[in-house]
This record gives sequence, C-alpha cells and structure tokens, in this order.
Amino acid sequence: MVFMRNGGKKYVVFLMYICQQAQAGRPMDNHGEVCPAFVFSKTKIAYMKKKNIALVAGGDSGEYVISVASARMIRENIDPERYTVYLIMIRQRKWVYVGEKGQEVPVDKNDFSVLVDGQKILFDCVFITIHGTPGEDGKLQAYFELLGIPYTTAGVLASALTFNKHYCNMVVAHLGFPVPASVRLKTPANLDVEKIIQQVKLPVFVKPNEGGSSIGMSMVKDKDALLPAIEAAFEQDKQVLIEEYLQGTELTCGVFRYRDKVTALPVTEIISKTKAAFFDFEAKYTPGAADEITPARISPALTKMVREHSAILYDKLGMSGLVRFDFIHCNNTLYFLEVNVTPGMTETSIVPQQAAVENISSMELFSMLIEEALSGR
Ligand SMILES: Nc1ncnc2c1ncn2[C@@H]1O[C@H](COP(=O)(O)OP(=O)(O)O)[C@@H](O)[C@H]1O
Ligand SMILES: [Mg+2]
Repeated sequence: MVFMRNGGKKYVVFLMYICQQAQAGRPMDNHGEVCPAFVFSKTKIAYMKKKNIALVAGGDSGEYVISVASARMIRENIDPERYTVYLIMIRQRKWVYVGEKGQEVPVDKNDFSVLVDGQKILFDCVFITIHGTPGEDGKLQAYFELLGIPYTTAGVLASALTFNKHYCNMVVAHLGFPVPASVRLKTPANLDVEKIIQQVKLPVFVKPNEGGSSIGMSMVKDKDALLPAIEAAFEQDKQVLIEEYLQGTELTCGVFRYRDKVTALPVTEIISKTKAAFFDFEAKYTPGAADEITPARISPALTKMVREHSAILYDKLGMSGLVRFDFIHCNNTLYFLEVNVTPGMTETSIVPQQAAVENISSMELFSMLIEEALSGR
C-alpha cells in the first residue's frame, strides 16, 4: 500500500494485487481489519470488503431439524451486500461446509477453515444457530474463543450456565427473581417417588436438566405417572429436573444488545392447543398448534415487567447476542422459566415475529448481531 499526501488531502493508492483481491470479494486478512477505501480529493468512494460469515447449524440434539430450518431462514435474510455466507453443518465429529450444489467440504478444525475452489476460506464471524449441544451450551463458544474467531451468541460461561436449567434457576433465584420450586435428580438409581412428592407438589413438570424443544419432557398429575416420566427424561440427559407446575400465562421476550444498548423486544403470549396442553414439541413446530400472540394481551404494567426482567437478567447473566427469556405469570407472580441462547429462527419462530412488531426486519437484526460480534464488545 502506498500513502501519498497532497495539499493536506490524503490519497490512498492500492497495489493492483489488492484491487484484484477486493474485486473478487476475497479477504485481504482473516478478520477484516483491512477495509479497502479509495479517497480521491473530496469524493470518497469506499469499497467495503464483504465479511465471511460461517453459518453454523446442525448439532447433536433432537433439535437438529429445527436448526436446519433456522439456518435456512437466516441464510435467506443475511445482507448479501455486506456478508458472504458459508453454511457449515456440524454433527458429532463430522463438520462440513455445504456448498450451493449440496457438495460437502470438510472443515479444517485446526483453524476452522474450508478449502473452496482451491482457496482457503477463513471466517470473520460465526453465526451459531445450533439449538442444544454443542451450540447452546458453551462448547462451540469455547472452541471459537480458543481460535479467536468472533461469534454471535452469548459467551462460554453464560451459555453453559443457562443451558443447565438447575444451575440457571439457582442463580436467577439468587438474583431475586421467582422460579418454580424444583428437585434435581442426579441419577436414575434408587428413585424414591414418595420423597420426591414431599419436596414438590403434584402436578409437576419432569424435564431433562439440559435439554430443549420440550423433548423428553412431560407434565405429571398422578403419582403413578411420575416414575415413567422420570425414566423418559433420563433417556435424554444424565440429570432430571422436576418442577412444580405453574398454571398461568406463558410469556416470552427476545433480548439483544447492539452498541451498548440492550433492547427487549415486544412480549409474546403462548397458548398451546395440543393435547399435552403445554408448549410441547408439537405445539412448537406444527403450524397452528399454538397461538403465539405478539404483543401479548396483558396489562401494560405486566408487559413492562416482562421486558424489564428480561433486560436485567440479560445483563446479570452476562448475556450477549440474541436470547429469549421464557416466563409464566401465575398467581400474580412472574416466574422465570428458562433462557434460550440460540432461540429458533425459522420463518414462524417467535423472535422474528417480535422483531417485526418492533419494525426490525430479520436482515437488520442479523446485521446488528454480526456487527456486534465483530466489534468485540
Ligand atoms: N414449571 C412449569 N410449569 C408450567 N409449564 C411448564 C413448566 N416447565 C415447563 N413448562 C412448559 O413446558 C415448555 C418447555 O419447558 P422449558 O423449560 O422451556 O424447556 P425447553 O428447553 O425444552 O423449551 C414451556 O414452554 C412450558 O409450556
Ligand atoms: Mg423453552
């Protein structure tokens, strides 16, 4: 690069090589610090290098298919003027870049690069949309931390903590927010049903402690159904959480930070219409099986409370990226239920609906998430 000064005005002349690289949309460095710009006299013609974004989907949980659907929606809505998106599918040890024609290219895990048309592609930022492990529980976050590659989600600790429902509830309760009474089971051996129902009153919710999409979860009204429900939850996870049932209005609120400003999106009310009568897998992913009403039909005071609790918890739990807080309003109390570090992003998912009500397009939202991650804040 040659810098020339003329009458106080700066002229920047790039070597031919760099021009060619920039025109071909190729990175000149791995992390986008170099931004080719031509400054001629008073006219500034800026050529912004497109950032390479790895859109990481798949994962090892039962939510694989949801992740694929989320990735499809994100891909269609990432700003093509600013970003070049590479879909990376991760399933156990198989990590591949999936090209336009469906061709698979293995990812080099040493530096998270892929070889495309003989050219090594490195990524400026990773957009993680894996629901469940390893994208929501801190594992991939730790890998990208080690490599020094920015990613769009919350960090290692916040992701790992909130993925563990038991520990998350303990911290949230400690911060002064109501959570359902619960018992955690660390082993399926020597289960004592009588003892459990002394600690939590029926009906209860039995759930894998680290799970998602309501997989392996059941509502239990009768003592006889408790043991089979616990066994079903243990099939999904090493630990099981039994929570008292909260009968009330289910509310959920997406939150993100951009340039130091935390935005709590409009609140959604969820009404499941399935036989299970809670927000089970069918209600979540079958069109029409649940009513998701945004903004929620609740009082302005309760709306304010949900948004405030969500924003405060976002901060206190050390969140970043876009997360979604779930609550149940029951007996005039707003109970925290859980937080999702990689909430669903399909066309019909809740967060895109909330953003739309706030007049934020999915494209704007994703650009903000990427820019926030790139900023290193
Ligand atoms: N303690 C509870 N009381 C009432 N409903 C609950 C309770 N726990 C879970 N649910 C219902 O089950 C759904 C899934 O529970 P959640 O803890 O959010 O797990 P997941 O991570 O699988 O989404 C909730 O959206 C809600 O409808
Ligand atoms: Mg949930």
